[in-house]
Amino acid sequence: MTDSRLAIIVLAAGQGTRMKSQTPKVLHPLAGVPLIGHVLATARALGPAHVVAVVRHERDRVAEAISALDAHAIIADQDEIPGTGRAVEAALAALPADFDGDVLVVSGDVPLLDAVTLADLVDRHRRHEAAATVLSAVLDDATGYGRIVRNDSGALDRIVEQKDASELERALTEINSGTYVFRSAPLRDKLALVSTDNAAQEKYLTDVIGLLRGDGHSVEALPAGQSWLVAGVNDRVQLSDAALRLNAMIVRGWQLAGVTISDPASVWIDRTVSLDEDAEVLPGTQLKGATSIARGAVVGPETTLVDCEVGEGARVSRTDGTLAVIGAGASVGPFAYLRPGTVIGEKGKVGTFVETKNTTLGAGAKVPHLSYIGDTTVGEGTNIGAGTITANYDGVNKHRTDVGAHARTGSHNVFVAPVRIGDGAYTGAGTVVRKDVPAGALAVNVAPQRNVERWVAANRPGTAAAEAAAAASADTESDPETA
Ligand code: UD1
Ligand code: MG
Repeated sequence: MTDSRLAIIVLAAGQGTRMKSQTPKVLHPLAGVPLIGHVLATARALGPAHVVAVVRHERDRVAEAISALDAHAIIADQDEIPGTGRAVEAALAALPADFDGDVLVVSGDVPLLDAVTLADLVDRHRRHEAAATVLSAVLDDATGYGRIVRNDSGALDRIVEQKDASELERALTEINSGTYVFRSAPLRDKLALVSTDNAAQEKYLTDVIGLLRGDGHSVEALPAGQSWLVAGVNDRVQLSDAALRLNAMIVRGWQLAGVTISDPASVWIDRTVSLDEDAEVLPGTQLKGATSIARGAVVGPETTLVDCEVGEGARVSRTDGTLAVIGAGASVGPFAYLRPGTVIGEKGKVGTFVETKNTTLGAGAKVPHLSYIGDTTVGEGTNIGAGTITANYDGVNKHRTDVGAHARTGSHNVFVAPVRIGDGAYTGAGTVVRKDVPAGALAVNVAPQRNVERWVAANRPGTAAAEAAAAASADTESDPETA
């Protein structure tokens, strides 16, 4: 349902200097989604009539990411006048001229704030008919934040920035979270009066509070239930703090939804992943992107899957996979590397020390040991011998290998693509398959073995090998059974 009287402004024009990064702060990922993606999703969940994001630093990259995350977000450009107050002015200018509802201001770098907390803030603002309602928090260490200054009767008086605060004000522990609801008309009026006459020489949004108060408007500060909700990400320590907290919530959510995760501290699950009931995730596992895990599948230990689909009851152990589809009841690993385009059929197998790429294995097809299989189709029920390599690259182009159904290829084969091995065909151990093998044929091209008797004695006299050979032949001569 749309709240036609609500607009949400997301501030994202700041530089993020403390991240020390080529990547704009609000684009750093958290649980697989850019910081600003969390904020935009929460904003959208409130059903506002408008979402406006303010950009300036790395304008094009940030604006493009915002549009990709929320196609309906309005992008507003902040000019060269710095400060959160100026940013909000830019956002207000981008709203339809007749909008006169409430404006919720949130920061692009506060990712954990949830829709329930924000909805409560808007609700309280409206019930109290306030001109402004600030979300505050009480912190053990308030360093760096703007402080909430209350009068003798406990009412909100103004907000003072750390840089401009007196010693007494710096001792205050209630801080401004940077999240507010304003009635739009008085906000517009007061922003026009805010100057840059302060320690940072910026147009502070926070100055609006004191101005509204001075005019007799009702302004309030509401402390958040838990301070971590309003924690901002300004450096990479805070980024990992937020990631840890969010991951713990995601893992707990899946546990409550019926997924077994015995060691939550070592399992990382992106916000974009989905798991079915009775899936199990073993220690040291990371599930990323659009990965989905079906019922009864067991993933891990020590497995990283990016954008993978794991079918019902499949088993994936010590595996690194990207853009792979693992069929129901299939078995992968330990120590498998599934590269993009791998599709493993139902009850198929990609075993130990096997790398696959752009390859489809039919139902029940197996590549059990020590192989590289690329640009290949393998029919159902086929077994690829241990140590098989597809020579798929001629130095210029990639070529395909096509193995039929129910084939049995020997150990240590090379399939020199393009090549086709027919249904039910066999290949001998060590075969270098350069020509197509017809259905049902046996392909062998290894030269017949020749044993040169007593070669070691003649060519390597005095070596341990020669002594061992001499001892073996003496045994044979004295053994009546073999004599
Ligand atoms: C701001 C508040 C402070 C509060 C703190 C909470 C002001 C003056 N101060 O301080 O009271 O305790 O947030 O985290 O508002 N931004 C712009 N344009 C700008 C500057 C900033 O869009 O010109 C954006 C930033 O991208 C960021 C947000 O506004 O998303 C806050 O900016 P930041 O520089 O982090 O403000 P603080 O100094 O932390
Ligand atoms: Mg900040």
